[in-house]
Amino acid sequence: MKFVIANWKMNGNFELVNQMMNGIGKGRDCCKVIVCPPAALITSFKGFEHDLGAQNCFYEEKGAFTGENSPKLLKEIGCKYVILGHSERRAIFHESDELIFKKWNVAIKCGLTPIVCIGETLEERDKWKDVLAAQLASYCADKSLDLHKTIFAYEPIWSIGTGKVPSKREIEEAIGFIKGIIGSERDYYAVYGGSVNGSNSSEILSIDGLDGVLVGSASLKISDFNAIINSVSA
Ligand code: PGA
Repeated sequence: MKFVIANWKMNGNFELVNQMMNGIGKGRDCCKVIVCPPAALITSFKGFEHDLGAQNCFYEEKGAFTGENSPKLLKEIGCKYVILGHSERRAIFHESDELIFKKWNVAIKCGLTPIVCIGETLEERDKWKDVLAAQLASYCADKSLDLHKTIFAYEPIWSIGTGKVPSKREIEEAIGFIKGIIGSERDYYAVYGGSVNGSNSSEILSIDGLDGVLVGSASLKISDFNAIINSVSA
């Protein structure tokens, strides 16, 4: 079974919600589709036959945190997943690994499955293993920590929105590295994100050990997103 996860970022509107509600293929056993729209659109997906996720949440369930999204409420309005630590949040909102781990803990507590994004910048390319190991340190420190089926998304920052995709071998190596340091006996998944589209998805999805893809811009066009879903082989 492969995950195909749509990250709309701060894009989309009611029209796109309707297109997606009516336009994406029926679920198939080999594929789990998760759509992560902006928070303001989540409740418009009433009756959606696929799963929903949020793009971020706060590290407390409730309180005086003006402007933040409660993980508890996200769960109540129908989210099953939450993206945490996307590179845009790390870069623009200065989110640290420590903060992301705090969010991970509260998301689990509220019954959300976290999709934790990690990845190196172009400048860090030659030390990508160190970067990933540091970003994963909290999840690796205690091997008895229950990961609750967390999805780790390897998203090299230089490939996000750029059309540049690492080679199949490079993705395979990164996924192998991630699974190696987290440990094979634990309960989690590893997916790839960064310029995935309908033309490259079947090759990417054929990578050994890869559990799916996280899709940004190509998830905003129903035909492109359907092409990715359809490229998952049974
Ligand atoms: P992209 O974005 O598919 O547009 O490269 C991926 C992401 O940021 O999750």
